[in-house]
Amino acid sequence: MRLAGAYNGFRFRRQLKWRREMYKKQLPALLAENGPLTRPPIELKDGWALDTTKSLPHLDRVLEDSEKIIAARAGTRTSATGAYRSYFQDVWTPADLETYPSFLDFATSSDVLSAVSHALGFIPAFSTTTPNGIRFVESNAQFDDNPNQPHDSQLHHIDFYSVPSVYVLVLLRDTTHASGPWTFVPRAASQKAAAKLKYWSRERPFRLSDELVYSALDRKQVIEFAHPRGAVLFIESSACFHYGSRNSVEPRFQLMLAYTGVRRTDFSELFMTENVFPIHESDSRLRKMVLHKNTPITFF
Ligand SMILES: [Fe+2]
Repeated sequence: MRLAGAYNGFRFRRQLKWRREMYKKQLPALLAENGPLTRPPIELKDGWALDTTKSLPHLDRVLEDSEKIIAARAGTRTSATGAYRSYFQDVWTPADLETYPSFLDFATSSDVLSAVSHALGFIPAFSTTTPNGIRFVESNAQFDDNPNQPHDSQLHHIDFYSVPSVYVLVLLRDTTHASGPWTFVPRAASQKAAAKLKYWSRERPFRLSDELVYSALDRKQVIEFAHPRGAVLFIESSACFHYGSRNSVEPRFQLMLAYTGVRRTDFSELFMTENVFPIHESDSRLRKMVLHKNTPITFF
């Protein structure tokens, strides 16, 4: 992580500085140009914020379009037996970006970007490698090769790919404990436990058992993102322990938007084909910055 951070920090040093400066000096102007806030700014506290008003801009369109995608693609396992994270599949396709513009309209709305920018301290960019900037995921116990034993991302971990990063998660169907909700520990308790467990040292694996994590923090601090359809969670996934998709006997449908900086803390950009998000001439500068990770500064 340190090596990748140093490498990418050098490689993208101009964009890094630029995104920080644009945040410090021009965020209000960029937001105004992108569209007015529709409510008091959403603020992440202790690494997270929850909006259950179901009234964020474009959310109604996202939910409507989600039903079409679910009707066409859900319930069919696409991975082979024994596949990594077989219980969790992303049914999003690149063509959906243009077929269903509601998703990017929601992801780049000023209410969402204000919250994410303030949490990160720079103008964020959609992740172009791992995880994909936009995922439409179905979690389903029927696809799980080993539903009774938590494994892979069903175990506690803190994301390391690009630190810091924020997820915006949207429940596309009503979600309860039986759906294997995305489950997390707020930032302060996570950081304290990570230090206690020496989480980032060589002696610890990336995924931790419940037993180990609950030896370092009170289990009561764990929060399940289980709400009716349309709930939105803003979460610093690079700072908070989390897991999800445990025994999703009721299939879980969730939109996962991943916002990062330009200085990733992995080398994925060196060996993965980067995802491209559509940009149109008429898009606001802020939207262009979010949808084009390594935006040339000459764009402006
Ligand atoms: Fe994760």
